[in-house]
Amino acid sequence: MQLKPEIEEYILSHTSPENSLLKEISRETQAKILMPRMLSGHLQGRILSLISKIIQPKSILEIGTYTGYSALCLAEGLQDDGILNTIEINDELENFILKFFNKSEYKNQIKLHIGDALNLILQMPDELDLVFIDADKRVYIDYYQLLIDKVKKGGIILADNVLWGEKVIEPVQNNDEYTKGILAFNQYVQNDSRVENLILPIRDGIMMLRKI
Ligand SMILES: C[S@@+](CC[C@H](N)C(=O)[O-])C[C@H]1O[C@@H](n2cnc3c(N)ncnc32)[C@H](O)[C@@H]1O
Repeated sequence: MQLKPEIEEYILSHTSPENSLLKEISRETQAKILMPRMLSGHLQGRILSLISKIIQPKSILEIGTYTGYSALCLAEGLQDDGILNTIEINDELENFILKFFNKSEYKNQIKLHIGDALNLILQMPDELDLVFIDADKRVYIDYYQLLIDKVKKGGIILADNVLWGEKVIEPVQNNDEYTKGILAFNQYVQNDSRVENLILPIRDGIMMLRKI
């Protein structure tokens, strides 16, 4: 959501700060990696961290690691013996991601899987407490269908970018598979009696689902 810069500044100055490792990932991503806007960033990162701390998950699955920022935020809530599995399709990011994971206090609790989530989700552990879907918008429904049975009763699924720059309320271009993917996902979960859901109007919209 587009907020006035002054309001955004006010929100960030009244939100717990990012730790130094997260600041470093953010800086290096801006400097060295394509499409740095994909990184969750300060506010969304603190939301992911706080949600994770409330849930205190033993098992987290993330789809779409990018440079590792959101994984490290989600890991903040893990139980001492908890594990976060994160899947990234772009193997060129592997060394960048691992450099930061290895600097983190959660390095022994985070497992990076390089490959297509559509192939890897079924190999991930069952009994998930928390899932963050943040990869290819065209196939959000496919990720969801592959993982929903792995989520514990009461478990939470978060899906990013579900307002897709407000394109969800505009006429859809025939060739716009991204908007179509998001619209289909939002409608699918709205009709799915296995979950209760709401859209948090934060940044590009986060769908929050709780498995009933
Ligand atoms: C928006 S970025 C993730 C941002 C990251 N979660 C964060 O908040 O910092 C999306 C990532 O998903 C990856 N991706 C796209 N399709 C994928 C797939 N099928 N399986 C795994 N990763 C995928 C992209 O390469 C990209 O790095």
